[in-house]
Amino acid sequence: MKTHYITTPIYYLNDKPHIGHAYTTIASDMMARFWRLRGDNVLFSTGSDEHGIKIYRSAQKENTSPVDYTNKMVAFFQEMGVRVLATPDEFIRTSSHHHHQSVHHLWNVLREKNEIYLDTYAGWYCARDEAYYEAKEIENGLAPSGAPVEWVEEPCYFFKLSKWQEPLLKFYKTHPESVGPSHRLNEVKRFIEGGLRDLAVSRTREACPWGIPVPGDDRHVIYVWLDALTNYLSVLGYPHNSEKIKTFWPHSLHVVGKDILRFHSVYWPAFLMAAELPPPKKVYAHGWWTKEGQKISKSTGNTIDPLKLVTTYGADAV
Ligand code: ME8
Ligand code: MG
Repeated sequence: MKTHYITTPIYYLNDKPHIGHAYTTIASDMMARFWRLRGDNVLFSTGSDEHGIKIYRSAQKENTSPVDYTNKMVAFFQEMGVRVLATPDEFIRTSSHHHHQSVHHLWNVLREKNEIYLDTYAGWYCARDEAYYEAKEIENGLAPSGAPVEWVEEPCYFFKLSKWQEPLLKFYKTHPESVGPSHRLNEVKRFIEGGLRDLAVSRTREACPWGIPVPGDDRHVIYVWLDALTNYLSVLGYPHNSEKIKTFWPHSLHVVGKDILRFHSVYWPAFLMAAELPPPKKVYAHGWWTKEGQKISKSTGNTIDPLKLVTTYGADAV
């Protein structure tokens, strides 16, 4: 029997879902249904990404706490899944206790293996992308995604990403099927060849009060992407449920939009290799739904409501 672990990104709860989220969920659901029909062993997971400065600010704007805000917003994403007739086996919330435990465990492993050290970050941060960018990537004060950046100077824990540049290139040389479609692999390789610098993986509480505390140093919270990517392991009960982990890891297909390819095919495999876990089997990055040439996004607000589409045309047509 073949085994598949298929995942959607865990969506930020900073606004209601739109047609882009529905698209990734529906496409992943089709694969999950196809494999189940064939009699394969399938685990299909989706969920919500609930930490970080973007969520914190969205809650502030609504004069509410991040906890109340995310508890309210998560219902919209769960409803979307139901209305498009998606059939996930798991819906992981990064606010859940067992996810926190998984993230703490991974952090401690990386720390024990000397893959994380304390230093100072001085550079650009983009709240909308929850991403650090290098000076060479900034144009007219904007990130490559077109979102504004902020100058940040703070004590930070760093992950030794630079150390994984060669191992990653070697991995993609021997496993070119790990990123799809194939032109995306070139993009990933080019980014790695451009040189990897160590990655800031924490934020101070002053800069970002909303996140999982760094174990043993609660002046810092864990960088939301290290937190979020770990969902793919916490769904499997990492580190406790060794049966489930053995069954489904690394048989994973991470379906993502091209906006978050770098996180999934550079940072994520590097974290995993550093923790002596195998990288995901495949990351598949699809393109964007656009409106008047612009990416449809919660942040720009040019969205199309998938629930309205389902009401008008029915789930199967959508
Ligand atoms: O990035 N066209 O969450 P997010 C097609 N929390 N797909 C689109 C789209 C569009 N216009 N807009 C969004 C995050 N998507 C992180 C993920 S995973 C460990 C953490 C889909 O709410 C697409 O799958 O910004 C994209 O990658 C995802 O929604 C981003 O959702
Ligand atoms: Mg986004």
